[in-house]
Amino acid sequence: MPVDMTKIVSLCKRRGFVFQSSEIYGGMGSVWDYGPLGAELKRNVKEAWWRANVYERDDIEGLDAAILMHPRVWEASGHVASFADTLVDCITCKKRFRVDKIQPGSKKCPECGGALTEPRQFNLMFKTHCGAVENEEGIAYLRPETAQGIFVNFSNVIDSLRRKIPFGIAQTGKAFRNEITTGDFTFRSREFEQMEIEYFVKPGTDEEWYRKWVQERLNWYIRFGIKKENLRLREHAKDELAHYAKACTDIEYLFPMDWRELEGIANRTDFDLKAHAKTSGKTLEYFDDQANERYIPYVIEPSGGVDRAVLAFLIDSYREEVVRKEKRVVLGLHKALAPVKAAVLPLLRNRDEVVRMAEGITGDLRSAFRVMYDDTASIGRLYRRQDEIGTPYCVTVDVDSLTDKKVTVRDRDSMEQDRVEASNLKAYLLDKLEGD
Ligand code: GAP
Repeated sequence: MPVDMTKIVSLCKRRGFVFQSSEIYGGMGSVWDYGPLGAELKRNVKEAWWRANVYERDDIEGLDAAILMHPRVWEASGHVASFADTLVDCITCKKRFRVDKIQPGSKKCPECGGALTEPRQFNLMFKTHCGAVENEEGIAYLRPETAQGIFVNFSNVIDSLRRKIPFGIAQTGKAFRNEITTGDFTFRSREFEQMEIEYFVKPGTDEEWYRKWVQERLNWYIRFGIKKENLRLREHAKDELAHYAKACTDIEYLFPMDWRELEGIANRTDFDLKAHAKTSGKTLEYFDDQANERYIPYVIEPSGGVDRAVLAFLIDSYREEVVRKEKRVVLGLHKALAPVKAAVLPLLRNRDEVVRMAEGITGDLRSAFRVMYDDTASIGRLYRRQDEIGTPYCVTVDVDSLTDKKVTVRDRDSMEQDRVEASNLKAYLLDKLEGD
């Protein structure tokens, strides 16, 4: 059974992973800030994704497109016309509901019983204005997906990098949606981050690539520690496919509230490139010089949410144990994701030589990875603090360290201790951290 969400929310607040946005003003609905440890975790998740897709493969390039784009992008992509939820308003309490989230055919407000308006379309994009004058010409949207930044740069990347199909473009970045059904912590936010790949293939090879990408992405979550039994694949029925997709499979995770989408892998066909070619008047064809033919490539799109991945990694790694009759909370995060890689804990904070040695070690380790120094409690408490934030290794410096020049390294998961030469500590930890 997954952990209760209230425990995760409480840990996130208490230990500085996630805070409600603008909390001192009463909070901003469904907008979240990542605290010091959350910022590290999120960076590590994105880094693990980037490494796996851009560095470890030779067929994907990275991109960092702007959030603001020409408004015609969103006309061409279909978002202005179709990126909408069907909503009803309560005439009495003024609350707004998604029609697919209330009882089918109901005319009564699920909250207060008041009468509901007729359903109407509500576009999810945030609208703003660019420039000095607020008129129709200056309309801009905060992007609702990062994908379009990739499509409009398709030719730029092909031309500048001389790429041959099949190849992909990867990007991580913010996306914005004026979500109406919110709640479930960071799961559905109005400002969130995506990690998306648009993988361009020859038409006819798309179904094979689609199946490959579903497996590839499922394996990534398992590689970074999500338990297999908490993941499943769900293929979309024809009537739930997005307006651009021929097929889509969701990777779902067993969140505390239920099985929910973590990432979607869609076969977007040539929908987007064709639409942008038509609207912009530019040719977005690819010339295959070996086959001597021109075509608009098909696109397979693995599209994941950074915030949802962070939440799933937190939930999946959370465990409570009883050790020597005491409760221990552990985040068993994959070492590559752990916000802090090692903590240095001097056992005697009143012995200058011990403190100096511990500070020296901390400084040395800092050049290699994120280290925390803590001497503000008893050793039992210090260990518990580090377990709770998922620090894989704790290094203690004691009075014997002054003579034998060794320190004790404690492993988060096994709690086994190893005595290690202080001069070899950095290499020892790097080896362990890179091990699995
Ligand atoms: N480019 C395709 C696309 O955007 P999507 O299924 O709407 O597809 C992809 O979004 C991923 O983005 C989702 O699987 C989810 O992880 C994340 N996502 C979407 N809306 C979100 C929201 N409101 N809050 C957090 N993550 C969200």
